[in-house]
Amino acid sequence: MIAEPIVGRGVELEAVARALAELQHGRPAMLEVVGEAGIGKTRFLAELAARADALGYLVLTGSASELERDVPFLVFVDALDEYVESLGPSHLDVVPADVRNELATIFPSLLRFREGENVAVQQERFRSHRAVRELLELLASPRPLVLILDDLHWSDPGSVELLSVLLRRPPSAAVLVAFSLRPRQVPERLLSPLERAEREGLLTRLELEALTVTQAQELLGEGAGPWLSDLYEQSGGNPFYLEQLARRGKPDVRIPGRAIEFDGVDVPPAVAAALSGELALLSEEARHGLDGAAVAGDPFEPELAAAAADVSQSAFVEVLDELLSVDLIRPTDVPRRFRFRHPLVRRVIYELSPVGWRIGAHERCATALAVRGASPVLCAHHVEWSAHHGDLAAVVTLKAAGEAAQQRTPESAARWFAAALRLLPSSDSSEERIELLLARAGALAAAGRFAESHSTLVDTMSALAPEETIIRARLTARCARLGHLLLRRVEARKRLVRALAEVRDSDSPEAVSLMLALAVESYYDVDASAVYSWAGRALDAKELAPAGLRANALALRALGAALAGVDADACLSEAEAFVDGLADDDLEDHLDALAHLGTAEFYYPRYRAAVGHVERALAIGRATGQGDLFPSLYPVLASALGRLGRIAEAVDVADAALELARLLNNPHQIAWGLINRAYIALVAGDLDFALPTSEEARAVAEQLDGSLISLAAAHVHARTLLAMGEGAAAAEILQDAAGGPSIAAQTPTSRVTSLLTLTRCLLSAGLAADAEQAAIAAVACADKVGRPLALANAELAQGFVDLHFGRSHRAEQRAFDALTTFESLDDAYSVSVARVLRARALAADGRQGDAVREFERAAAIFDSWGAVRYRDEVERELRKLGRRIHRRTMPGAGDSGVEALTKRELEVATLVSDGKSNPQIAADLFLSQKTVESHLRNIFHKLDVSSRLNVARALDRATPMQESATAGGVVEATNSSSTN
Ligand SMILES: Nc1ncnc2c1ncn2[C@@H]1O[C@H](COP(=O)(O)OP(=O)(O)OP(=O)(O)O)[C@@H](O)[C@H]1O
Ligand SMILES: [Mg+2]
Repeated sequence: MIAEPIVGRGVELEAVARALAELQHGRPAMLEVVGEAGIGKTRFLAELAARADALGYLVLTGSASELERDVPFLVFVDALDEYVESLGPSHLDVVPADVRNELATIFPSLLRFREGENVAVQQERFRSHRAVRELLELLASPRPLVLILDDLHWSDPGSVELLSVLLRRPPSAAVLVAFSLRPRQVPERLLSPLERAEREGLLTRLELEALTVTQAQELLGEGAGPWLSDLYEQSGGNPFYLEQLARRGKPDVRIPGRAIEFDGVDVPPAVAAALSGELALLSEEARHGLDGAAVAGDPFEPELAAAAADVSQSAFVEVLDELLSVDLIRPTDVPRRFRFRHPLVRRVIYELSPVGWRIGAHERCATALAVRGASPVLCAHHVEWSAHHGDLAAVVTLKAAGEAAQQRTPESAARWFAAALRLLPSSDSSEERIELLLARAGALAAAGRFAESHSTLVDTMSALAPEETIIRARLTARCARLGHLLLRRVEARKRLVRALAEVRDSDSPEAVSLMLALAVESYYDVDASAVYSWAGRALDAKELAPAGLRANALALRALGAALAGVDADACLSEAEAFVDGLADDDLEDHLDALAHLGTAEFYYPRYRAAVGHVERALAIGRATGQGDLFPSLYPVLASALGRLGRIAEAVDVADAALELARLLNNPHQIAWGLINRAYIALVAGDLDFALPTSEEARAVAEQLDGSLISLAAAHVHARTLLAMGEGAAAAEILQDAAGGPSIAAQTPTSRVTSLLTLTRCLLSAGLAADAEQAAIAAVACADKVGRPLALANAELAQGFVDLHFGRSHRAEQRAFDALTTFESLDDAYSVSVARVLRARALAADGRQGDAVREFERAAAIFDSWGAVRYRDEVERELRKLGRRIHRRTMPGAGDSGVEALTKRELEVATLVSDGKSNPQIAADLFLSQKTVESHLRNIFHKLDVSSRLNVARALDRATPMQESATAGGVVEATNSSSTN
């Protein structure tokens, strides 16, 4: 497609060569090509494509379109859809069904994979992003993939979000994503992901500058004539302008034109005049047809252009030849589709057409599209331009476009709903307005635009009729929740108190909703007894109904009780019995009841029940399209799973929580997401991940005003440092965050946990006397709480101190008691901590046999959740006790180490150590991805490793050492250096 050789761009092309070379090592790369309109971005990307193609890489190109800025994922669909379709269905067999199902929501060619009703909510759109990442990895498996995304300044919000996700985490395969942007039109949502990716070295930015005079000469060749320096001056060295001016020929006429400006582009007067001059040479019919085409789109189909121009199709076809012959439009690869010579040409023609005529032209396009049954999303753009106030048919189209977009691209949905609202007749105070306002508020919240969501809710409330008290109360509560996210808590609380004072009947559902919202506020204020008492007041209401509201009140009271450690048993049991007796229908408008109950159970703790209730909330939410609560449900679920030792699931959910938080771009949720994720990494012994994640959590938390969140971030950071053996630093961090050694700023229950951590940190720092004080404080606090978990944590703190001071017998007893309690609470992680302490105490007490047994149990637990690091630590202690390590092997496998791998497993392991991803391996070996995953699990187990990197290390090591492996399925663990 490239007519002329590229001029200049030597330095930038060297960067391209480096990126392409990088792909040969199986590593991803990203390139951002920036420069003003017409500077040569598309030309540059075409050069990149040609060079990648010459290397035998797979090159797929898509561009965003100025006129289709709300078609979901357009630029990705443009680049990938046709190719994916050409692969044929069997090629995607290796992709797991759920991933294919996600892809089907994006790519039209994969629609056949859509299974059943799509029950995802907008808050789970990160699943689509993950699916695309997997697709790219798969496509890159036979040979490197170069994905070119042009004109991203016009990309739809879905593509913007997807790109920002890829910028944060590129595909782990040989994929180069290269994209272009006009610097003055960069979508705001891309700014910080771009900046971050560049800072982290994931992205290379190439800025295209104006051509030099010599290069301009080279570009124009003969075309420059004797006027090069004039052309150069008037164009500023911009190649598009140069070419446009050169078309005009002799520049000796005085320039009558003026600059044309739009969207951050200033077309210089001489260029505008040259283009006008070019247009003036057209026949009247051709000019008119061209104006129609400029409204229809770029690329455009003659039918739509004819409709826009209001001429018959045959009349339009007649002028096509004239337009093609003067090179104003060009054919595309697709029959009956044409594009403008350059996007700037289309835009200038559009700008030059009379405004009133344009409105009619858009209207004709909208009608023509509607007649041929085009989707509302495609019609909406023209409708938006042409509809008049009170146009109810337009409202219907725009609303339908919003609904079609909201699942995967809430940002677009919000825009369409707003457009519909603008058209509603002002007399319309009806349900229609409220429905649209609520839909917009929901879409805005899902897009992370909480402030606008908040103000839309306020607007909704003022549109409500006075008697609609229940809805108003629910909206007030929803506002309060957003207020929390916006850190406008004081304002939210005032609004609630004011609203409550205005309610006459304190037994009404409205009053109850407000009291419950105040209970939630108190939870954020870390005021457990206020949570309890507000919920209690709500429960005092006569004939409290509907059932879901009562459920919520009971759940919140249980939460207050669990946090304050008062009356928790009874409250929790009552709430559980009531909620479990309700049908999903009763709960679907009150999902917060399940959320609060799950949270209460987490704190109490009843981890299994918490998992059950949160999962129920997620299921009902998905089935009814309500995702508002998901950002707060995931963290509870992840933490509870972590406690239960269901680490793989916990990691998955915690990842989801963090991805969602980042999509919403809400620092509060990001901080909590990081804290949770770091905590689970810590439990899994993945300190390399826990450390930076907890550091980032602290950095984000610092910018927020909540001491609670800073303390939580400091706590997980300190725990990580402690696990790394840096107790002194850990103690300092924890004390600083908590305002001194007494750690006063927490709920009593969390305080006990923090004091336990502090005790351990101080001991590890050699500050035994201080540690003893911290343990004493833990006991005092736990006594106040009176709950088994708190008491067991305090017991454990004392146990650590006792062991340090040589009171090993006491230490052993305390550890044993704590252990028993933790076991009864299903707190698998705490059990393992207590076990290790007990084993050490037993050893110190001279009870070697018991100590070995206890250490071995701890090692088995760590092993079962892949916490290799902790397992190795325990095994070192076992060796000190003179114990040979007998690795647990697969049931029935009877063998371990590299030589224990089956032929197929060895193949998979070799590919893993070559750096291939699961989809790549699946494709190479013609296996399903699930099968690869299951081989990999066996490989991890047999090689006794928990990461792909260590598979490679194990293979490396094995080559010379294979003979020395012990027979009989037992491997002596002689080398644990890789896990230190
Ligand atoms: N380095 C170059 N060598 C040869 N031709 C070039 C070069 N740079 C640009 N051109 C030509 O100049 C014109 C404008 O370039 P191009 O379309 O690539 O600009 P762009 O930066 O993509 O503009 P836009 O932002 O509007 O998409 C094209 O005809 C292109 O072929
Ligand atoms: Mg371009």
